[in-house]
Order: sequence, then structure tokens, then C-alpha cells
Amino acid sequence: MTDTKKSVHGAWSSRLAFILAATGSAVGLGNIWKFPYITGENGGGAFVIVYLFCVLLIGIPIMIAETMLGRRSQRNPIEAMELLTEEAGADKNWHYLGWLGVIAGLLILSYYSVIAGWASAYIIKAFSGGFFGADAITINGIFNNFIASPAQLIFWHSLFMLATMLIVARGVQNGLEKAVLFLMPGLFVLMILLVAYAMTTGSYNQGLRFLFVPDFGKLTGDAVLTAMGHAFFTLSLGMGAIMVYGSYLPKKISIAKTAFLIAGADTAVALLAGIAIFPIVFANNLHPGSGPGLIFQTLPLAFGNMTGGWLMGILFFVMLVFAALTSSISLIEPAVAWLVENKDLSREQACVWSGLAAWALGLGTVFSFNVWSDVKFFDRSIFQLMDYLTANLMLPIGGFCIAVFAGWIMKRQHSEQELNMPNKAGYQAWKILISYVAPSAVFFVFLHVIGVL
Ligand code: PFF
Repeated sequence: MTDTKKSVHGAWSSRLAFILAATGSAVGLGNIWKFPYITGENGGGAFVIVYLFCVLLIGIPIMIAETMLGRRSQRNPIEAMELLTEEAGADKNWHYLGWLGVIAGLLILSYYSVIAGWASAYIIKAFSGGFFGADAITINGIFNNFIASPAQLIFWHSLFMLATMLIVARGVQNGLEKAVLFLMPGLFVLMILLVAYAMTTGSYNQGLRFLFVPDFGKLTGDAVLTAMGHAFFTLSLGMGAIMVYGSYLPKKISIAKTAFLIAGADTAVALLAGIAIFPIVFANNLHPGSGPGLIFQTLPLAFGNMTGGWLMGILFFVMLVFAALTSSISLIEPAVAWLVENKDLSREQACVWSGLAAWALGLGTVFSFNVWSDVKFFDRSIFQLMDYLTANLMLPIGGFCIAVFAGWIMKRQHSEQELNMPNKAGYQAWKILISYVAPSAVFFVFLHVIGVL
């Protein structure tokens, strides 16, 4: 494949740089904020098992496919799909897949930034010592007062979006990605300390049982869709983020090994978050299904009641915001890359326009927690609708198309050459998963949800 556009892109200097960027994209609010609350809403164990299966059988193969498509084309997702369809001699319409990704990225960023804003505000709340010795009712009150204020939410949402825009505009992602090097281990250590605290609550076993003992009777079709959608969301799949990063990846590097590493780290962070949070939920008679506020209503309790909790609280929310930033830059990147490469905008202009669009859309999410909390579409608030539309529909649809493309449209010799696996059985296993297992799993879950199955 030609390399002519490489100059706009630059390339990762090493395998490590790619791993850092892709892990930074994968590990974020999805692991620490979203995984626990959707697990709580969907009854625990059975949901977690479906999620883990989805990561293994759908997520990892698709992560390999997305990275491969990016690296082969060396382009932004829209152009990548155009180029790869040409190479495969396939229908032109495949490039709409690139569009789906650009749009899904901006839609996700719109609410992602609002929640990352919450986490930013909680750095200050932790710093001011407001959680000290507090009980569940006080912590709940702090959270409810906070989200009732559109002005505060808009302030923090704007700040986070501005930070994302600045980082991407100035092209200093590399600096931020290096932060992943201490961020991930730091986050790990803090999560383990939180797990240690959870062990002292007296409800540790109850928390573990909730997370890991399945009751498949409780599993609804919608829960299966949410678990599958979350596998895409948490691994940043189905919208071209990993494709963009893959396009910067040097040819020598093993895509498959890297994908396992990233997915493993991502899953470990999510499970640790769950193990830390549910014992606190049960020890304080809180409700596991209390929704997107779950970590903001539980973790401050831990910080307020453990030794060293003041510092840990600050560090935790700082790291969470950093983790969110390394994800948000990958959410905006497909749109920015496309605007720069096709609309002749400078990187700065592209960031301003994409950021402003996502920011304005995010106001809908802000208001859905207060002044517009009664506004419902199909029984969902604006935030819930955005989340459902992107995580449960757009990402799986994008992932399905990527799987079909990589498994059926792209020529075998091309994928074999690009993946370059030393072990033939490894390639064969991937080929089966990507051609049959992943697409049919997504398809059947959709059929089930619309009531056909
Ligand atoms: N994977 C990120 C998280 O778990 O927080 C969210 C995300 C980033 C989703 C990038 C999709 C994406 F393309």
C-alpha cells in the first residue's frame, strides 16, 4: 500500500507508543464509571459473564481487524474504507462505515465529556475534605445537589472539552500518551487499595457474589445487548478510533499480541472497579442499580472513611480524569483526521469545529440530569438515548460491518500478509471468529432485541 499521506499522520515510534495510545483509549470512564453501574442495573454475575465472553469472542477479533484495516490503509477511517474497498474490488458504499465512526465518536464525546466533567469537579470536592467521615446520605446529597445545577455541569463539561481540544489541536497527544505509562500502574495501585478497603466493609463476599455468581434467570435481551455494546465501548471498537491508531502503527509489529495485551489490561481495570465498588454498595445499603451516579455515591464513602483517604480521593479523581482524556482524544480524532485530510482545515480549526459540535450536543446530556429530566424519548432521557444509540447500536453495527469486511470482503492473502502471524492456527482461529462468530453473535443479539428471536 502507498505511503503518500504518511506525512500528515506521522507514525508511532514503537510498539510501546501504540500500546500506550490504544490502552489509553480503551481504559477510561467505561471501565471505572460505566462498567460498575450497568452491571448493577443488569443484575450482576450473568451480565458480567456475557460481557467477558463478548470481549473474548467478539471484541478481541474485531480489535485485531480494526488495527489491521488502519495499518493497511494508513488513512483516516473514511478514506481507509474507500481505499480498502478499491483494493478488494468491492462496493463503494463501504465508506459509509467510516462516516458512522466519525459521527459515533462525536456523539459519544458529547456525553463522555459531561461525565468526565463530574470526575473533574470531584477532584475539588475531594481536595476540600468534603467526604471526610461522611455517611451515605451526605455523599448522596453532595452528588444530587451537584447534578441539579446546570451551571456547574456546563462549567466542568466545557473545561474538559476545552482540554481535549487543546491537546488534539496542539498535536501533543504523545505527551499525554506517555502519561499512560504511570497512569495505568497508578490506577491499578489505587484500585487495589480500594479493593483492600472493600474487604474491610463486612460486605466483601456479598459484593463478589453479586459480581461473579450468575443468575441467568435475571438476564434480559436488553441486558445481553448492553453487555455486548459495552464490550465495544470499553475496547473503543466499532467507530474507527483503533483504526486511526492502527494507521500510525509500524509494519513490523504483531497486531494480535498487542490486541490481547490491551484487552487484558482493560478488563482487569473494569473487574477491579467492580470488586471495589459493590461491597461498598451493600455495606451502606445502597442500591446497585442506582445508575450513572454509582461511583460518585460509593467511592467518596471509601475515601471519607479510610486512612489516607483524603490523598487517595484526590489522586483517584485526577487519574480518572487523565484516563478520560486519553480516551476523549481518540473519540475526536477520527473527525479531526478527516477534516484535516479532506476539508483542508488546519488541525486547530478541525479541533474547534469538532469540539464545538460535541460540546453543544453535550448540553442535552447536562440538562437531562436536571431541567430536562422529564424529557423522554422512547422512555429514555437524552443521556440514556445518546448512550443507547452509540454504545448499543452504532458501535455494534460498526463492529459488525468491520467483521464482515475483514472476514469476507478483504482478500485472504491481504489479511494474512498484514497480520503476519507466525502461527497458522492463530490466523485460522481469528479468521473463523471474525467471519462467523463475531458477525452472527451481533446479528442474533439484534434479532433477539427487536423480538424476532
Ligand atoms: N473505551 C473508552 C472507555 O472505556 O472509557 C470509551 C471510548 C473511547 C469508546 C473511544 C469508543 C472510542 F472510540
